Parts: sequence; structure tokens; C-alpha cells
Amino acid sequence: MNELQFTPEVEQITATAYERLKGVIPDIEWPVHAPYIAAINKLKREKNAVLLVHNYQTPEIFHGVADFVGDSLALARKATEVDADIIVQCGVHFMAETTKLLNPDKTVLIPDLGAGCSLAASITAANVRKMRADNPGVPVVSYVNTTAEVKAETDVCCTSANAVEVVESLGVDKVIFTPDGYLAQYVATQTDVEIVYWEGACEVHERFTGTELREYRKGYPGIQVIAHPECPPDVLEEADFVGSTSGMINHVGEVRPKQIVMITECSMSDNVAVEFPDVEFIRPCNLCPYMKTITLPKILEALQHMRYPVEIEPEIAAKARLSVARMLEIGR
Ligand code: 13P
Ligand code: SF4
Repeated sequence: MNELQFTPEVEQITATAYERLKGVIPDIEWPVHAPYIAAINKLKREKNAVLLVHNYQTPEIFHGVADFVGDSLALARKATEVDADIIVQCGVHFMAETTKLLNPDKTVLIPDLGAGCSLAASITAANVRKMRADNPGVPVVSYVNTTAEVKAETDVCCTSANAVEVVESLGVDKVIFTPDGYLAQYVATQTDVEIVYWEGACEVHERFTGTELREYRKGYPGIQVIAHPECPPDVLEEADFVGSTSGMINHVGEVRPKQIVMITECSMSDNVAVEFPDVEFIRPCNLCPYMKTITLPKILEALQHMRYPVEIEPEIAAKARLSVARMLEIGR
């Protein structure tokens, strides 16, 4: 029998996931997703695999098959604690590389090699070396949204959740910050440390505008407007709260507003709406095309065929691991 049929057994095994997801997934889609959810969860147990899932993954992945969900800092921390032979990263490639750096002896899989990131693609190791040469003695802080090669040229990594803390931890007057120019400018508003930055941008967040946010306020009086720090400065100035993806989710739980708009990738609102049925989410839809390359069928294939294993050249890995490890030490 074809394993991927929506049988009464599959319906029963996936009933708990259905209860969580029925408000955010059209009914007609459930018979398509459910057999994959059942098959992935079975294979995970058989192969001693875990799935680390970023907050931007679609609800059927986030609520159906994840072992751990979170922002990139939480997933990096979780990667140091995982007791499994195989880790499937349901996020983008730089996240899988971070996981591999922290688990050199485990198999780390990314279900689609096209799961890139415009920020990670915006800068090379040579670019970082040039910035260092132009700013002698100034330490380099790089956002985790970078390749292992760039991390290897970096003193300490950061995420959007801890960028200010990491910059201030260095105890210096000036830092080089790569590759997100908007995150760098946001950090500069929160600290006295001088920030020299690379002008990379996230192609999802750079599309939001302050005008758009003011339109939400006009259309929905009293609405909470919260934004990710990868957005341009005029967007962040308009926002009631700025935080990492998990910071934004926690904010919804703390404030429990009647209406909210999350200025970030659109799957976040679907995922969070499941947890807070009493909050109305106004949903702007800026999709991250890289995050969306990860699908249930590709996760199943990743587990069936062990693809695609992440490998990092040992010399690069040794240096890159240090910059990630230094970040994880901060705030412990
Ligand atoms: P977070 O660390 O806030 O999850 O952000 C990662 C990311 O890629 C946002 O675009
Ligand atoms: Fe990269 Fe932006 Fe996609 Fe995040 S949302 S993975 S920063 S392109």
C-alpha cells in the first residue's frame, strides 16, 4: 500500500496536529499534508533524527513535524544540546552550517540546497578582510546570517536577539558589523559603540516601508505594530516593539493585543495565530523564497535519502566555530 495515503490510521495519528492547525490550513489541504506528517514523524523515530525548525517555516512543518522551534539564536543553542544521530535543519543554509559547526560528528541535513539568504549572499570572506584592513584593530561582529567562510573571518557572531549585547560585550569604542546594514543601524541606536557596517540587506524585510505601517495604524486604530530589526530605520521608528522572531512571539504573549501586525516574513503570523486564537493578526505577506524551498515532501526525502548533508572544510570550520562559540558564551 502507498504509505502516503490519507487513511483512517493516518487521520487518527495526525489528529492532534490537525486540532492545532485547522484554523490556519484550509481543510482541503489536510489530506495532502497529513500522510507526510505521519511518515516524517515515523522515520524520525526510526532514524534517531530531530528537526530544528525556524519560526518562518510553514504551519504544517512548524506545528506538524518540528522537535524544536525558535529564532536563529534559540536553534543554535538547541543545536548544542541535541542527542540524535541526524539533525534536519528546516530553515536556511546558514542555519544548517551553524548547526554543523556545533555538531561536527553528527549528520546535519538541509532538505533543499537552494535555501539561501540574501544577507548571507551579500558578503564574502574577502570583503570582511578588506573591512578589517581599512579599520585596523577593530573587532568584527557578524550576524549569523553569513556563510561559514565569513564566520571564519569574524571575531564573534550575533543574532537579532543578542546583537546589542554582543557588541557591548567587547568593551571597545568601535566595531565592524556585517552584513546587515539595517540591523547595524538599529544596533547603533541602542548603544554608544561606533558601528562601521556592511550594506547588505534582507530582501524580505527591506521591502517594508514606514508609510505602510502608518496605513495599518489608520486602518486599524489601536493596532500593535511590531517589527524585525532587519527592516529599514523608518519602519523601526514606527514600530511599537522591535525584536527577533522569538522576541516578537513573546511580545504577543505578554501584551495579548486585540489586533497586531507583525512586520516580518508572513508564515510567522500563521504559526503564532495557532497559539493565540484571541488575537487578530493582520497579515502582510512578504514571503522568504529561501525558507519556502523547505516543504514536507522534501523533509521526507531528506530523511529517506540522507540529503543534503552539510559539510564544511575543516580549516574554515575550526575558525568559524570559535566565532559562534564566543556568541553562545555571551549571556549564558
Ligand atoms: P531571527 O534570528 O530573528 O529568527 O531571524 C532570522 C532571520 O533570518 C530573519 O530574517
Ligand atoms: Fe535571509 Fe531575509 Fe530570508 Fe531571513 S527572511 S532567511 S534574512 S532572506
